[in-house]
Amino acid sequence: MKTLGLRLALQVATLAVVFSTVGHAEDRERVTFSKQGLQAKIIYCKTCHGLSGEGYLGYFPMPRLAGQQSEYLENQLRAFIERRRTNPVMFNVVRVLSPSMITALAKHFMDLNAIPFGGAPRGAVAMGKTIYEEGLPEANVPACSACHGSEAKGQGQIPRLAGQLFPYTVEQLTSWKTARGRGPGNDTSAIMSPIAHNLTESQVRAVAAYVSYLK
Ligand code: HEC
Ligand code: HEC
Repeated sequence: MKTLGLRLALQVATLAVVFSTVGHAEDRERVTFSKQGLQAKIIYCKTCHGLSGEGYLGYFPMPRLAGQQSEYLENQLRAFIERRRTNPVMFNVVRVLSPSMITALAKHFMDLNAIPFGGAPRGAVAMGKTIYEEGLPEANVPACSACHGSEAKGQGQIPRLAGQLFPYTVEQLTSWKTARGRGPGNDTSAIMSPIAHNLTESQVRAVAAYVSYLK
């Protein structure tokens, strides 16, 4: 699929059209990449992240991107480039993307609506709902809903968790400190660090199962 993306990109390289992104006041400057170049990238992203951005279970869990907050998406794509967030697969994907392409891709995936991938164990969903809505005061874990929202849709830099793949959420919460916030100085990932640390493995699985079924 990589070669398909490259071939498409080459075919359209001479047809570059100029258009400006809409929606962000700070992005008023005109950006140059072809519509077809963007389409080819989107197709490439979807070979891993699913045809509707719903996520995919391959050798790694490929997270859902559909309906994700665009600010969060942009920040994570920059985090991979700057190695604040370490992932060899995504580093190679994003290091070639221009800032305006990142903005356009984030907008595209935010606007997608996909049904949840499903497949998480049902048994712990009720416990997950309690943790999500009330936190675990005895373990110093705040309610997830306080930041991620009562429907887990997220806001701005705070990600949507609704419909996210169960194994992906489990993996993020159990490897937070080794994969995220790796750069010098603080980034947004620092907020989640103590929360992830204070959850036990069964609590992580419960809350990950609960959010995975939310639409
Ligand atoms: C070869 C497979 C592959 C391709 C192609 C790919 N990704 Fe990914 N992507 C992954 C994997 C695996 C992860 C999980 C990384 C981790 O565990 O930290 C990921 C994570 C992400 C994340 C972080 C999501 C989150 O919830 O924090 C974003 C954003 C993302 N990818 C966007 C993209 C975009 C945009 C493209 C196309 C330009 C793309 N990906 C292409 C495999 C891929
Ligand atoms: C104080 C606000 C806050 C609270 C409370 C909070 N989060 Fe977060 N969460 C964030 C922020 C901000 C991020 C984005 C971090 C980044 O930029 O790397 C995040 C990221 C995440 C991610 C990564 C999502 C992805 O797509 O990779 C998961 C999973 C997550 N939170 C789960 C939870 C769970 C489960 C709880 C409750 C036990 C919780 N959060 C409570 C603010 C919060």
